[in-house]
Amino acid sequence: MNIPKHQQNDIAKQAAGKAAVNYIQDGMLIGLGTGSTASYFIDALIERCHTTTLKIHAVATSERSYQQAKSGGISLYDINQITQLDMTIDGADEIDRKKQMIKGGGGALLREKIVAYMSQEMVVIVDDTKLVEYLGCFPLPVEILPFAYQSTLNQIHLLGFQGRLRQDAQGQLYVTDNGNYIVDIVTKHPFQNPQQDHALLKSIPGVIETGFFLNMAGRVIVGHNDGSIDIIE
Ligand code: 5RP
Repeated sequence: MNIPKHQQNDIAKQAAGKAAVNYIQDGMLIGLGTGSTASYFIDALIERCHTTTLKIHAVATSERSYQQAKSGGISLYDINQITQLDMTIDGADEIDRKKQMIKGGGGALLREKIVAYMSQEMVVIVDDTKLVEYLGCFPLPVEILPFAYQSTLNQIHLLGFQGRLRQDAQGQLYVTDNGNYIVDIVTKHPFQNPQQDHALLKSIPGVIETGFFLNMAGRVIVGHNDGSIDIIE
């Protein structure tokens, strides 16, 4: 039987999400990522909590993940009740051989980065289509302040980046959970020096955060279409 491509991807994402639950230990404080792969993880975590004696607490990186976890009975903290997390499990849009990543396709990059930074380890869960030689095929999301956003966009262009304001399904400017906008930067050539590009973009006052997640990934779980996984230590 021929399984459509997007469903194959779902099998791979689900395999990675499910496997990540094995890293969760009793009493842990966990960061819940955002996106379809993270959503498979949250489902698997809910199931594990219901079918075993596992007790954990979590914080979410988006309203979506918060609602999913809450409706599944996961104990959730407000982010300001804590300062450290044991582990964050999150997806990625691209990840290269050095585990450098682009994230933010789902619009949650700022909270995702803050939560990952608070964590002892960021475990990344991806399907194998996310593995790349160089970052840059996927547009780089950059979260910007609504105040003077046209000027910020202009500054981004003046630095040599090509960016477009993200829109929602209704054609309105996409607004993040933090009330900000997102510029998606497209590039014809891969990012040669993500550290430098990140620093350049962050030098613009209206730029809040970029979707470059550099030197943040711990173990990476890669799911495949046949339901198998690989782990990159
Ligand atoms: C959300 C993200 C997601 O992790 C990223 O977009 C991957 O999403 P998916 O698992 O749906 O492919 O960064 O801001």
